[in-house]
Amino acid sequence: MDAKKAAGEKAAEYISDGMRIGLGTGSTVYWTIVRLGELVKEGLRIEAVPTSVQTEKLAREAGIPLLPLARLQAPLDLTVDGADEVSPKDELIKGGGGALLREKLIASFSDRFIVVVDHSKCVSELGRFPLPVEVVPFGWEMTSKQLRQMGCEPVLRMRDGAPFVTDNGNYVIDCRFGSIPNPGELTVELNKLPGVVENGLFVNMADLIVVGHPNGTVRTKS
Ligand code: A5P
Repeated sequence: MDAKKAAGEKAAEYISDGMRIGLGTGSTVYWTIVRLGELVKEGLRIEAVPTSVQTEKLAREAGIPLLPLARLQAPLDLTVDGADEVSPKDELIKGGGGALLREKLIASFSDRFIVVVDHSKCVSELGRFPLPVEVVPFGWEMTSKQLRQMGCEPVLRMRDGAPFVTDNGNYVIDCRFGSIPNPGELTVELNKLPGVVENGLFVNMADLIVVGHPNGTVRTKS
């Protein structure tokens, strides 16, 4: 079995009747959404808040009832999402798909945050994967220079020959740090830059990591 599928499907087991959940973005949580769609057809009653336009479409197709954020009076019970890197301390790099801002918002509105990854995402130190940083388009060149001064190689994310635009109308600069020994400090420093909307470091947020392996086995760590 595919390692991503194994992890994604396992996470669906943590979701029970009556829960209001956040749905992340990407090819691993895709399997959680597909499985939840099956369970909803079998009678599971849940409401979900998607973290991207892509996930909203997927959830609708799967028949999962959606909850408008404006109706949310209390934190979500649980959010399931993928990650691009996971450190031994469960710090994360996210945003490979460009949905980091909504992902961080929804995860922070949740009582519990479950991360689904295949084993290749578990690293000894964050930073080999370029850190996605969402920036406002106005003056992005200046913001990119300031990011470079923080010790990385910044690259504006492109799609089809034009800057990639997030669901929030912003750009993403992928910052190659090589290694990020102190993610907690870096996330604070990055978000101090006026042009930065949010960065893809998720520190002290994950409650449980569900790791899938190519033979279909799943390990969890918290
Ligand atoms: C989306 O912006 C990302 O944060 C994804 O959650 C992350 O890139 C993991 O994606 P995959 O599950 O597709 O590897």
